Amino acid sequence: MATAPVARVRTVDWLDKMLNGGLPKGTWTVITGGPGVGKSVLTILIAGGNLKTMPIIYVTTESSFRDVVRQAGLFGLDLGNAVSLHDILTGKANAGESNMIVIDLFSLYRQYRELIRGEGGRKPSRALSIEVLKSAVSRALEELGLLEGNGRITGEVLVIVDSMTAFWADKPALARALSYGLRQSLYGPNLTVIMTSQYAPTTAMSFGFGLEHVADGIIHMWMDDVEAVKEVRRWLIIKKMRLTNHYSKAVRFNITEKGIIPLEPSLGEVNQGP
Ligand SMILES: Nc1ncnc2c1ncn2[C@@H]1O[C@H](COP(=O)(O)OP(=O)(O)OP(=O)(O)O)[C@@H](O)[C@H]1O
Ligand SMILES: [Mg+2]
Repeated sequence: MATAPVARVRTVDWLDKMLNGGLPKGTWTVITGGPGVGKSVLTILIAGGNLKTMPIIYVTTESSFRDVVRQAGLFGLDLGNAVSLHDILTGKANAGESNMIVIDLFSLYRQYRELIRGEGGRKPSRALSIEVLKSAVSRALEELGLLEGNGRITGEVLVIVDSMTAFWADKPALARALSYGLRQSLYGPNLTVIMTSQYAPTTAMSFGFGLEHVADGIIHMWMDDVEAVKEVRRWLIIKKMRLTNHYSKAVRFNITEKGIIPLEPSLGEVNQGP
């Protein structure tokens, strides 16, 4: 019996090729790797590349709204009509025609109590909690006109969280339980989720552990030992991806002003866009 092809969300051209067309829609993918390997750059390229085709919610725990827009601009991607949730909540902007809402969790410091109260939940003691993340994402879905009263998500959306590590940095033992909880609330056929997770070089697996088990896909990025090879050599591998066949070898890549460029002739012929 022929099966229907799996609908995809595009990433960057060469990674789409490795994924047989992109990330299967409705799945959760975790991008893991140590500091500076290119996780944030990859998520920004994915957001910029999808902006014209689907609404995007981009959560950052690492940089400001302005820096996300600026970093995208350095790669020739215009996030011009993106708005920040902070600006929406403080009345400085509205989602209007925008297709992208950036949630900068640190800037929400003053608003998070309000957000949670709106959700009827208990008040967390700090902005950087899974409850605030969930409430902020559902508020952004609402602003984008994608949420029904019963909580159903009415249209396709790409949710990117860069990074999850900060949510359990002080309680790594809870990473798994928190990941399961989050998966239950952020899961559906219309919802494609990409999260980054930082491997602490000294403790290897610990921070990524919870998320990797609940994720449908894992894209791992790493660097060769810079002291041994005396240069930055970056690699990427698809460790798992449910619902699709995928390339199974590691691919070396560079980050340049053109984006993330593979050093693999069979993938490198692909046009990287701007
Ligand atoms: N505009 C740019 N042009 C060229 N290279 C860039 C540019 N922006 C970032 N880079 C490269 O990407 C690296 C940072 O990558 P990125 O911020 O994505 O890392 P990360 O994996 O998110 O790290 P962390 O876990 O610390 O957040 C920089 O060290 C630099 O080498
Ligand atoms: Mg980063």
